[in-house]
Amino acid sequence: MGILDKHGAIERSATLLMVLSLLVVSIGGLVQIVPLFYLENTIEDVEGMRPYTPLELAGRDVYVREGCYVCHSQMIRPLRDEVERYGPYSLAAESQYDRPFQWGSKRTGPDLARVGGRYSDQWQVDHLIDPRSVVPVSIMPSYAFLATTPLDIEFIEDRIRADQMAGVPYSQEMYDNARADLLAQLDPYSDGYDGLQERYPGAIARNFDGQEALTEMDALVAYLQMLGTLVDFSTFEPDESR
Ligand code: HEC
Repeated sequence: MGILDKHGAIERSATLLMVLSLLVVSIGGLVQIVPLFYLENTIEDVEGMRPYTPLELAGRDVYVREGCYVCHSQMIRPLRDEVERYGPYSLAAESQYDRPFQWGSKRTGPDLARVGGRYSDQWQVDHLIDPRSVVPVSIMPSYAFLATTPLDIEFIEDRIRADQMAGVPYSQEMYDNARADLLAQLDPYSDGYDGLQERYPGAIARNFDGQEALTEMDALVAYLQMLGTLVDFSTFEPDESR
């Protein structure tokens, strides 16, 4: 009896086929998954990555709430056309503090992983209020209400605590100063500015929406202007030893 005939016996018995298939698939799965339990860290640490400032975090929540990810991805793939269009491909570490991540699976609009600093605040505000005012052919919806909706910061400490519980390394000091840091990021001349920089090195502080009131627009633009700017790619070198 040749090997194919023996295989025929397996194929004719549904139960045997199922049991053996399960066995084969389990071995494959174990080989892939078990080593991950013994690795200390599956994400390479990258200089510059820090938890989001309270204002950026609030802006990120607006981004998620409004479903921006339905049209925008935040993951530049290591393909030449993407790297030429958007910049250096995304590193795992760059979404290590994302709960949930915003990689996205659809691009009706461009990838936003490195949109930070590409446009002025004023452009971002104009674009969100009326996308057609700056990109005449745009099909992006208007989010004008963000400029008139006050940012609710009542639960900002709890928001930080929630990410802390999920493993984002927010310190007790960051928790205690959440409100102060959020307000300091809107005014580079405020007393809280130094504390903000100490806790979140390099955080961009300014009046993002250009108006007096603290709005959801401030938070969203602060978040967009930070995207992709934390890691300095002029000095970054991948760790080839891993
Ligand atoms: C229905 C799909 C859709 C949704 C939802 C959407 N966008 Fe867009 N977005 C687009 C398209 C299409 C473009 C390209 C044309 C343009 O610049 O307006 C774009 C462009 C952009 C750009 C400029 C990117 C660049 O590199 O030029 C930014 C920033 C942006 N969107 C942010 C957002 C934010 C923030 C939200 C959520 C509040 C959002 N978008 C929701 C479709 C969408």
